[in-house]
Amino acid sequence: MLTRIAVLVSGGGTNLQALLDAEQSGALHSGCIALVLSSNPDAFALERARKAGVPAAVCRTEEDFRKELESARIQLVVLAGFLKILSPEFVRRWPNRIINIHPSLIPSFCGRGYYGLKVHEAALRRGVKVTGATVHLVNDVPDRGKILLQKAVDVLPDDTPETLQRRVMEQAEWKLLPQAVEQIAQQIAETEEII
Ligand code: GAR
Repeated sequence: MLTRIAVLVSGGGTNLQALLDAEQSGALHSGCIALVLSSNPDAFALERARKAGVPAAVCRTEEDFRKELESARIQLVVLAGFLKILSPEFVRRWPNRIINIHPSLIPSFCGRGYYGLKVHEAALRRGVKVTGATVHLVNDVPDRGKILLQKAVDVLPDDTPETLQRRVMEQAEWKLLPQAVEQIAQQIAETEEII
């Protein structure tokens, strides 16, 4: 049985696209993207879901997200550029079944207030020579759950937040996220078969 995956988004959805492409190519083969949920009605990610033929919805409250995930019988929740912080109650509903991608090497440049371009602005301000991306389990403290995968990316002398963001996405995020999702989807599929 394929693990049923939901991807939660708020913006452009390039990480969602990397997952859809991985499913298409067979790199993601232990799970299927069954649902896309957005906190933002204008997110371009919704258009990507529509093009791929994946059911998508906009949710306002956590209660809306919970209902959608439950009614689609979702087993793995992937936060991919999702900018809402989930409550401890919500996280406890799917223990070890929610993962997030963050555009830095955690524990650097993470936690409340560090999202999107702000992460890369902070890395450039601090003058680090290496940054990267992290996929981690989500617990009740933002960006503090168990680290699953990380990949380092060089910072170049003339980088702007935008060029650095793009390099981190290309060299790290779009590779790490499908890899992590396949690993967990496979574990879930095997566990549920035993049960
Ligand atoms: C990505 O860089 C993702 O890692 C980051 O937002 C961007 C979303 O891009 N997420 C965070 O900063 C979460 N703290 P996308 O919508 O094109 O995938």
